[in-house]
Amino acid sequence: MIPRLKPAFDGDELAAALRQPSRTDVRQFERAFAAKFEAADAVAFPYGRTALKMFLEVVGLTDAEVIAPSYTCVVVQHAVMLSGNIPVFVDNTMTDYNMDLDQVAAAITPRTGAIVATHLFGFPLDIIRLRQIVTEAEQRYGRKIWIIQDCAHAFGARWKGRLVCEDGDAGLFGLNISKVVSSIFGGMLTFNDRGLADRVRQHRDAGLQPGGLIKSWLRFAYLAATYPAFHTLPYGLVHYLQYRTTLLDRLTKAYHLDEEVRFPPDAGTQMRPIEARVGMAQLRKYGWMIERRREHATRYAAELAAVPGWVLPPVPDGATFSHFPVRVPDRQAAVDHFARHGVHLGEVVEYSVGHLPAYRRFSEGVELPNSLYCSEHMINLPVHPQLSDAQRRRIIEIARLIR
Ligand SMILES: Cc1ncc(COP(=O)(O)O)c(C=O)c1O
Repeated sequence: MIPRLKPAFDGDELAAALRQPSRTDVRQFERAFAAKFEAADAVAFPYGRTALKMFLEVVGLTDAEVIAPSYTCVVVQHAVMLSGNIPVFVDNTMTDYNMDLDQVAAAITPRTGAIVATHLFGFPLDIIRLRQIVTEAEQRYGRKIWIIQDCAHAFGARWKGRLVCEDGDAGLFGLNISKVVSSIFGGMLTFNDRGLADRVRQHRDAGLQPGGLIKSWLRFAYLAATYPAFHTLPYGLVHYLQYRTTLLDRLTKAYHLDEEVRFPPDAGTQMRPIEARVGMAQLRKYGWMIERRREHATRYAAELAAVPGWVLPPVPDGATFSHFPVRVPDRQAAVDHFARHGVHLGEVVEYSVGHLPAYRRFSEGVELPNSLYCSEHMINLPVHPQLSDAQRRRIIEIARLIR
């Protein structure tokens, strides 16, 4: 079965994981990451969500409103809540699925402390317009509004030629195995301001536990398991276990907590050297990974325009396609159709955060129809770098069988 995603791990990552650990592995990864994304510095975390929470703490935000899209990964709002702040939801456009910037402008109040600008599915948000909106609001209210560019889906995405993570006060990255670059788990913040990066690093080192050898071994076991798990042959079994049994669900419960506002138990421990070394190996093949994603997306966009009822995404310059999202009239029918032909479709993002029970009280009176619609109608076609041209052609053929 063709998996919906696949980390681009091969012998390089395994060799990197097995190398002798060094105390400088994490710092080296931070430096290489900063260089790759043209930042002055970067600070590594166990998860992206921990990074966001600690950033909000360092800049001294409490009881402040933090604007973010409703159509995003729920852990963003978990980080906002757990840092003692208040989530404010904004709806997305139906073109590139990013926040509607008119609504961002309207959502800013004297209590706004930060905006998490998510570049969903790798589509760059208009960072120039966002900057204008924020500058005007800062002048109006006489207070700083922090901008966090959420690039967890948007490694290397550019708006008018400029890396989106370069703008704002920090770039936020997630590094789990579903991400474009992976360090097994992990998160990263990039900064233009070295002083701010130092403050965040100090806060991290004071607040997080070392993690220890057991965490490193568990990470190694997890890495090793990804090789067979995402291979086309055994993946059918993984798919079966996910959809027909509760086993995988139970194993991933700590990570996946859509309904409950809490972090996984190991979110309070440092990134381990093994993760940093795997991340370094990934950065070395970064150019190829992005190129391959764009190639898959371009072919899908060119060849699937006539599938009845499908709304394809745009393929703008500067998008890097963590996903290839397609709006379909009946998601379950599409998922079943592809599964029957041996392809696992993604259903990301499968919820609208503002509609989740834990967050409903924060979205009262806010209209989020697009977020709700997308959460019920979106599929993602596989675009991982190791998807072969023959597999992509097969996916296109299967899509064309839909009536
Ligand atoms: C859009 C977005 N932002 C932030 C994150 C946070 O990353 P992590 O899972 O490492 O906490 C994710 C993770 O999946 C994400 O999809």
